[in-house]
Amino acid sequence: MLIVKTIHETRIHITEARALGKTIGLVPTMGALHEGHFSLIRRCRDECEYCVVSIFVNPTQFGPNEDLNRYPRPFEADTRSCREMGVDLVFAPEPDEMYPHENITWVQVEKLSEHLCGASRPDHFRGVCTVVAKLFNIIQPDSAYFGQKDAQQVAVIQRMVSDLNMPVEIRSCPIVREPDGLAMSSRNRYLNPEQRRQSLCLFEALSLARELVCGGQANSAIIIEHMQEIITSHSEVRIDYISIVDNTLLQPLLKIDRPALIALAVYIGRTRLIDNIIVDPPA
Ligand code: PAF
Repeated sequence: MLIVKTIHETRIHITEARALGKTIGLVPTMGALHEGHFSLIRRCRDECEYCVVSIFVNPTQFGPNEDLNRYPRPFEADTRSCREMGVDLVFAPEPDEMYPHENITWVQVEKLSEHLCGASRPDHFRGVCTVVAKLFNIIQPDSAYFGQKDAQQVAVIQRMVSDLNMPVEIRSCPIVREPDGLAMSSRNRYLNPEQRRQSLCLFEALSLARELVCGGQANSAIIIEHMQEIITSHSEVRIDYISIVDNTLLQPLLKIDRPALIALAVYIGRTRLIDNIIVDPPA
């Protein structure tokens, strides 16, 4: 497995793989890899002949008071996992390689970036789309793999690819959960044991929401109220948002009369966690 830090060298290896007729798959990550990432890598390995994992903690998607500096960077463990999983190339640039000068060109997907995480992280998706567009330009993958835990990210990237005619298939992969239901996230490692215990309220609230929808409840406000009750009974947990939106343009849905994304973000101490489910109204 190659570990490459420069764009120039990466392009040389990708060109070689292409010359051999190989299909290229990309799993973009910020490292601190866990089972969620591994499921993306496995799928990429299964579907593509040359598997690239990028590891880059992208500064432009973090707000001024967010966790850029303390974001975990277990580089040795990450590359070991990639090697064990049969990844062909890890692209791990330094920030200066990706942003050699002040960045003044941005990719911004309007509308889809406004609600949910976009409301409390105003420049987040601009940073995500810009770095993902750069990674697509550098690696030119046939397919790229993203986790459904970041449902809004997947929707925004899918729209970017469609609006800008980027020749890449976006593959969205199911959320991977711990046995007790907590969605896997690199940020889970910030939680102390009590916070980890309380973090289960995200899954509890989403499970209740699913039950309510299956039982015929279509009123989003009522569902959100029930979810709030569960979460606010946990002393360490503060709600950022709980939203029910349509599953295409991510606009708020007052009534669940079509497939809907129920998404939430909470702070547990200083740690921000997100989770979601997709629900269909009963026939
Ligand atoms: O989901 C992530 O880890 C990041 O947002 C991504 C897609 C790698 C872009 O930095």
